[in-house]
Amino acid sequence: MSVFAQFSEGKVDPHSDFARALVAGLTAPEKSIPCRFLYDAAGSALFERITTLPEYYPTRTETGILRARAAEIAADAAPGNVLIEFGSGSSTKTELLLAEMHDLYAYVPVDISRAALRDAQARIRQRFPGIVVLPVCGDFSRPLALPTQIARRPRLGFFPGSTIGNLTNDAAVDLLANMALILGTGARLIIGADLKKDVNRLLRAYDDAAGVTAAFNLNLLKRANRELGTDFDIDQFDHLATYDEDKGRIEIYLVSQADQTVSLLGRKIRFAAGEKIHTEDSHKYDIAGFQALAKRAGWRPLKVWTDPERLFSVHVLEAE
Ligand code: AVJ
Repeated sequence: MSVFAQFSEGKVDPHSDFARALVAGLTAPEKSIPCRFLYDAAGSALFERITTLPEYYPTRTETGILRARAAEIAADAAPGNVLIEFGSGSSTKTELLLAEMHDLYAYVPVDISRAALRDAQARIRQRFPGIVVLPVCGDFSRPLALPTQIARRPRLGFFPGSTIGNLTNDAAVDLLANMALILGTGARLIIGADLKKDVNRLLRAYDDAAGVTAAFNLNLLKRANRELGTDFDIDQFDHLATYDEDKGRIEIYLVSQADQTVSLLGRKIRFAAGEKIHTEDSHKYDIAGFQALAKRAGWRPLKVWTDPERLFSVHVLEAE
């Protein structure tokens, strides 16, 4: 189908967030696509599969830490407190905490997606009929008002998954500072951060043998074909994961296998053989490094837990 036919059927919105980001990212001298576009329905399903892969240790390791510490987290929480989750994705991790928090006043999932909030609310209502769920639809990278019902109540923020690792250190500090602003002085935050480790272990986690991470990355191009009528030949791009020691991060790319040209909303985008599209960063921390980052954002480190292999860390912070 031509782009024109799609326009006339109203399927392609050239001003959508994805369309604009793709045009900006693929016409720049160093091509890139922001990683938030990895998570359409197909990408989210692929990410769920990633979390079950033998090579992808973060999810099961963090879940293990939270399971081991849930009772301690609940015991530390002030009576009548509110659990505020940034992003309403990971139901298993949230449910581990909710199952132990008998003195909770409310659970507040914060997300930009109304559908994700509806799902989270339905799930929690089903499993914990007694818990008040107060969803907030909004962007937690900006100032955001919490429901008036929870004014003056003690707050416990929750940001699992090492999602913070997608951000550069400066952007991570900004996000953490904004979370302190949203939650208020005295609030606590439980946050997961992936740890530095053997490089080969890291590389395997981001380039698994079954090729699920490759499919997750390539889905960006399939999504562009589906939503924007581009003509990416998926077979002509490869998944690549590298580790940058200086920056302390995994970098993910799509690599053009040949000289080729792709049509994007009336533009021709040229790729040289071997040219890369940067699609994601995943920063790795040591404990002191993550605590220093948190301090720059106005958080005081209170506790930190890891697994016996020291693969992953879960921090408890307090807003100053
Ligand atoms: C969801 C950002 C935590 O960085 O490990 C997994 C995303 N990308 N495999 C990560 C991801 C490729 C993941 N985060």
